[in-house]
This record gives sequence, C-alpha cells and structure tokens, in this order.
Amino acid sequence: MAERIPIAPNPTFAASEAPRSTSASTGERVFIETYGCQMNVSDTELILGILRPAGYRQATAIEDADVILLNTCAIREHAEQRVWGRLGELARLKRTRPELKLGVVGCMAKHVGEELTGASAAVDVLASPDAYRSLPRLLAAAGDSTQLDLHLDRAEQYEGIDPVRTRGIHAWVTIMRGCDKFCTFCVVPYVRGRERSVPPDEVVRQVEDHARAGGLEVTLLGQTVNAYHHDEVGFAELLARVAVVPGIRRVRFTSPHPADFEPQVLKVMASHPTIMKHVHLPVQSGSDRVLARMRRSYTRAQYLDLVERMREAMPSVTFTTDLIAGFPGETDEDFAETLSLVSEVGYESAFMFKYSEREGTIAHREIPETVSEEEKGRRLTRLVELVEVIAAERNRAWEGREVEVLVEGQSRRDASRLYGKTEHGKTVVFPANGARPGDFVRARVLRSTSHTLHGELMVAQAGLALLGGAA
Ligand code: SAH
Ligand code: SF4
Ligand code: F3S
Repeated sequence: MAERIPIAPNPTFAASEAPRSTSASTGERVFIETYGCQMNVSDTELILGILRPAGYRQATAIEDADVILLNTCAIREHAEQRVWGRLGELARLKRTRPELKLGVVGCMAKHVGEELTGASAAVDVLASPDAYRSLPRLLAAAGDSTQLDLHLDRAEQYEGIDPVRTRGIHAWVTIMRGCDKFCTFCVVPYVRGRERSVPPDEVVRQVEDHARAGGLEVTLLGQTVNAYHHDEVGFAELLARVAVVPGIRRVRFTSPHPADFEPQVLKVMASHPTIMKHVHLPVQSGSDRVLARMRRSYTRAQYLDLVERMREAMPSVTFTTDLIAGFPGETDEDFAETLSLVSEVGYESAFMFKYSEREGTIAHREIPETVSEEEKGRRLTRLVELVEVIAAERNRAWEGREVEVLVEGQSRRDASRLYGKTEHGKTVVFPANGARPGDFVRARVLRSTSHTLHGELMVAQAGLALLGGAA
C-alpha cells in the first residue's frame, strides 16, 4: 500500500450521531491530520471510535481544536520530513495557545519515538499503532511531561470498536494488521508489528453495518491483505462472505502480496460480480537479483505467471502496482528488467518511488546503498514516463466502449461533471445530467488521457440509464 493519500479528509460525525457525553466526558474537541496509506485513514476512523466514547468531540477545523493529532507515516524519509515540518508549525501555534494538546501517533511515532519530544517540546502525546486504546488516558494525563505508549501488541485487533466512518458510499475495513514479510527495505513490520487477522464475524459485521447505513462499496485493508487467516478462515472464504453482504455492490482489497495468492482467491474473484476486476499487485522490481535482495519471496517468472493465471480466470482484469527505483545493488541491467516487466504486464498506473533507506530495516543494516540520488531520480523519471505511455495506450482501448460506473462525486475541476469508477478501477468523468453520487450508471467512453476516461451518460428511452444505487 503506497503513501498515496497525503492528507485524508477529517471524517465528520453525522448530525444524528453527535457525540454523547459520557461519565468520562472531557468535551474537548479533537482534530486528526492523516498522513500515509489507507491503513492510516482507517486508523484515524478507529481513533475517533476510541475517543468518542471517552467524551471527545470532533473539531471541524484545526482552529477549533483542543487536541491535534498527527497520524503519521514512516515508509520513506520524505513522509517523515513532512511531519517534522508540520510539527514546527504546530509548535508555533501552541506558543499562542499553550493549552492546546499535540499528539503524534502512528508509524512515525513508533519509528522515531522519544526523539519526537526532544526536538519539539510541543509534543504532549505519542502512541504507536497498537496503543490507540491508551489515547484517552494519555491525553487526560498530558501536561508537564510527554505521555507515551509505544508498545506493539500482536494480539491487538481493536475488536469491538466501531470506527467513526466518513458517511458515504465507500468504507475502508481493516481485516488484518501488521506484517510478517520483513522485505529488506521496509519499515512496516517494525512500526506496525506482527501480522494478525480480525475475526471474520467482526469483518462481516462492519460490512453489514456499512451497508445498513446506505454504503455500497468496501475496501478490505491489510499490508498483506491476502495473507488473512483467522483459525480456519482464509482470505478466499472471507472475500466470498463479504461479496454477498446484502446491499454491497462493490468489494475491493489492498494490498495483496504476490506470494500469498491461493488459487481459490482467483475462483472467488471470478465468480462474484461484486468483486472488482482490478488488482493492485505491488511488484517492486522486475529483476530476480533485486527481488531476492529485497526478500520479496517471488521471482519475475512467478509474478508473471500469477498475472497470467489471473487473466485466464478473469480475462478483463486490470493491474496496478508499486515500484522502487534504485534499490542498493540495482544495476542498469536490473533496472532494464523492471522496465521490460512494466511493458509486459501493461499496468493501468503505478506508484513509483526512489529507494529511501529506513533505519532499523535489514537493508539499512546489511545492504549498503550503491545508487546515487541523481541516478535514482533518472530511473524514476524513466519509469514514470514509461508507465504514462502504457497507461495512455490502455486507456485508449476503452474509447468507444460502454462501461458501468459507480458515481463517487463531483469533479473537482468542473462542478457540472461527476466522476466514478468502473469495475476495472478506471476513473470516468462525465456530465452529470441528473445522475448523483451513489448511482450506478452506464456511460460511453468518448476520449481518454493517461489518467482518466471521459465519457457521456447513456440515455435510455425512459431517461437516464440508471442501474440502481442510492436513487
Ligand atoms: N504491503 C505492501 C506495501 C506497503 S508500503 C506490499 O508489500 O505490497 C507501500 C509501498 O511503498 C511499497 O509497495 C513500496 O513500493 C514502497 N516502499 C516501501 N518501503 C520503501 C522504501 N524504503 N523506499 C522506497 N519505497 C518504499
Ligand atoms: Fe513492507 Fe514487504 Fe510487509 Fe509490504 S510485505 S508491508 S513491503 S515488509
Ligand atoms: Fe502506511 Fe506509512 Fe505506516 S505506508 S503502514 S502509514 S509506514
């Protein structure tokens, strides 16, 4: 899962569920700024689900907050630099409002730890991703000294806590936490701890709750989401259960690990129309030498074989991926193999990163850097250019075709247009013509760019070609 959502919208309490006072009520208003991947977006909803019963209310703007929490990411140095910068700004704000409580939670809190308090005395609270149940206690005790809980707990699944979700069509549902893979470049197993799965009944309960509240779509989340297993229930069975929850029209999951795809998952995906025919399948590199040094536990041939088997099971399936440029020891030949793999698979899009050494990882201890920053930059640029060309080609293939779109919202550039996604994960923008978010509509693709399909609604004799949804 990539660091792809810079700052998530702060979920809001619906008017009908304004936080109730409890005996422990503080009445304090909390504002959470979220960095990093979707796991953090989901965790922000979880944190609100912990703070609300403790009497915290949600601030709609940072100016109104009594408590500001930064839910942070440690995946690359850049992610941490942004938070250091933000902390500097918030420290200045705190000088004008000394009663303001400031907390750093999440992956960077665990990675950097108490150093965060040394450099910026403004930080009152630190909590690791497994310590969110301690937040009410830590915040209540915040004052002269920093309160922290940075423990990891391989049993913590936050069972029984109802996340405060952004009301809408879509919900993130965390099905497993942590990671056991220990890829040599990656900090996640150290900051989020070991892999553990949420009981299947709890997952299904959350999906049912979402559907009852009018939700249509869920994304199942985990760092290696398809490694899910709880007692006898594996990912295939869970996916099949979620796919038939009444009211749920679309199911996605991210990020699966290429080594954890059991054949049964492909069967379940192929046989349930509600499961999207799009797989985000991080590859990282196309070179076996690099994959081995990364300890990704698959070869190029095994990855390509998986792609092939998926295409056999679901002929129209689309792929996106994550790629790292300039891993230590990556030669020009290795990099050329990444470029050729990208062409061979034909990704719709990709998240691409320069390798960033992370303290504490195996690569940091054992694999010295060999690729200069300039060379990493050059390789990244070549990758981006190639992916753009391929994505544009693949999008052109949709021109003239009819697609079914789940409408998500208004286009940011033009309020008279809506955008939504097809079952292949393609974004389509089209003139609204009476359609609304939550509708399923049919559209014809008229033109395309490397990122977007532009279309028009198909108008049936009876009016708009609505296929159901929130209407
Ligand atoms: N669990 C997911 C990925 C999580 S991190 C998986 O295994 O596929 C999201 C992405 O960040 C990774 O896929 C990788 O491409 C990138 N990434 C992780 N650590 C990195 C590092 N040290 N430097 C650069 N990119 C990194
Ligand atoms: Fe990191 Fe690898 Fe785990 Fe993904 S599978 S979170 S890249 S250690
Ligand atoms: Fe996600 Fe960043 Fe943590 S990518 S798991 S928020 S280190």
